Amino acid sequence: WLVPAFLLLIGYLLGSIPFGLLLTKATGAGDLRKIGSGNIGATNVLRTGRKGLAAATLLFDLAKGAAAVLIGDWMIGGGGAMAGAMAFIGHCYPVWLRFAGGKGVATMMGVVTALYWPAGIVFALVWLGTLFGTRWSSVGGMSAAVSAPIAMAVMGRFDIVPVTLALALIVLWRHRANIARLAKGAEPKVGASRG
Ligand code: G3P
Repeated sequence: WLVPAFLLLIGYLLGSIPFGLLLTKATGAGDLRKIGSGNIGATNVLRTGRKGLAAATLLFDLAKGAAAVLIGDWMIGGGGAMAGAMAFIGHCYPVWLRFAGGKGVATMMGVVTALYWPAGIVFALVWLGTLFGTRWSSVGGMSAAVSAPIAMAVMGRFDIVPVTLALALIVLWRHRANIARLAKGAEPKVGASRG
């Protein structure tokens, strides 16, 4: 049991690195928690006006999810889903930020892509399509998250439908403030100055 427990811990710790917060602090771009939505993800980094930093946040948050899956699979056969899910939990609920982390979209994309890359492509296409179609980052992220378990099922990867479904439900839960704003017509679009 020691190896699986260690794997869960590694996954969690990797996922809990708040790249958005660290990158914006290190470059003097401001305190993300006090900007826009207060979220630590790439969308909110974009609200600091630093496009490169936002892209780096997206990339690193995605990479930590993918890395956890690869390490998990390398340590135990089939350990990737477990480690990836823990990285996602670490991103959304990091102990360092008193469990107030991000909304999970980028990290989920990394996990999904590393688990089964064709579903990662579907994730990216749905994300970009809805993001550019609606200009709401939250709608893009939630649509992509929900598309993942559907894509896994359609592509016959029933073994990883449960984990991707669980992650998608947590993504929706983490977006509850966005959903409330969308319902009120108050959700800012990407490119708008305030969030
Ligand atoms: O992935 C986060 C994004 O979907 C929403 O971010 O800052 O607009 O709440 P934000």
